[in-house]
Amino acid sequence: MRKPLIAGNFKMYKSVPETVAYLIELRALAKEVRGVDIVVAPPFTAIHAAAAAARDSNVAIGAQHVHWEREGAFTGEVSAAMLFVAGARYVIVGHSERRTLFGDTNATVNKRMHAAITAALVPIVCIGETLEQRDRNETLAVLDRQIKESLDGVTGEQLAGMVLAYEPVWAIGTGRNATPAQAGEAHFHIRQRLKQWFGLEAAEQCRVLYGGSVKPDNIAKLIAEPDVDGALVGGASLDAKSFLAIITGATV
Ligand code: 13P
Repeated sequence: MRKPLIAGNFKMYKSVPETVAYLIELRALAKEVRGVDIVVAPPFTAIHAAAAAARDSNVAIGAQHVHWEREGAFTGEVSAAMLFVAGARYVIVGHSERRTLFGDTNATVNKRMHAAITAALVPIVCIGETLEQRDRNETLAVLDRQIKESLDGVTGEQLAGMVLAYEPVWAIGTGRNATPAQAGEAHFHIRQRLKQWFGLEAAEQCRVLYGGSVKPDNIAKLIAEPDVDGALVGGASLDAKSFLAIITGATV
C-alpha cells in the first residue's frame, strides 16, 4: 500500500518570515497526523529557514526547481547538493510553469531528475496535458511521451522511491479541477505504463500525485481513486489551515 503524500507548492509566494510563521503554524496543526507524508516547497530563499522551522516535525521541505550541474558558472542556478544541504529532501521538477514560461523540456527535466536522485533528493516529476491536447484526444499520448522522455534512464529501484505528479495544465490555478473520473483514468494509464516500462514492483511503489485546483472540498473524492496517491497543491497550500484540511482529507 502506498502512503499518501500531500505536497504544497508555494510557487513565488511567501518571504522568509512568512514561510517560517506558516511552518510554525502547520507543524502544530499537523502534529497528530499519521499515515500521510507532508511536504512544503517554498521559494529557494526560504528553504533553509523552513527546514529549521520544521525540524523534528512530520513536515518535510522541498524545492521547486533545480539545476543539473553540481556547481559552476551558471548564474542564478542552484544545485541539488546545495538544496540538500539547505534542508530540502524533495524537489519538484518539470512543473508546467517551468515548461511553458522558462523553456523546460522533457530532456532538461530528465537531467534535473537524475541530479536530484544523485543528491538524495526525492524528485517530484510533473507531467500533464494542455487543454488543446485534451480536446484533440492526445492526453494519453502526451503522457506517454512525457513519461518516456522525462524518466529516461531511471532504474526500477529509483522509480520506486520517486514521485510523479499528474497536473493537467488546464486545471492549474483555474479552479477547474479534473473530475475524479478524469484523474482516475489518467492515473490508471500512468500506472500501466510504469508497470510496462519499469516493472510491476517499482510501479506499485512509485507515488503518483494529482495536481490542479485541489481544495479541501475535492481532495477526498480525488484520493479515493485507486491510483491517486496524494496531491500537489498550489493556491490552497498557502494557508496552513486550508492545507491541513487537505492533508486530513487525504487520510480518510
Ligand atoms: P493550484 O492548486 O493553484 O491549481 O496549482 C496546482 C499546481 O500547479 C501545483 O504545483
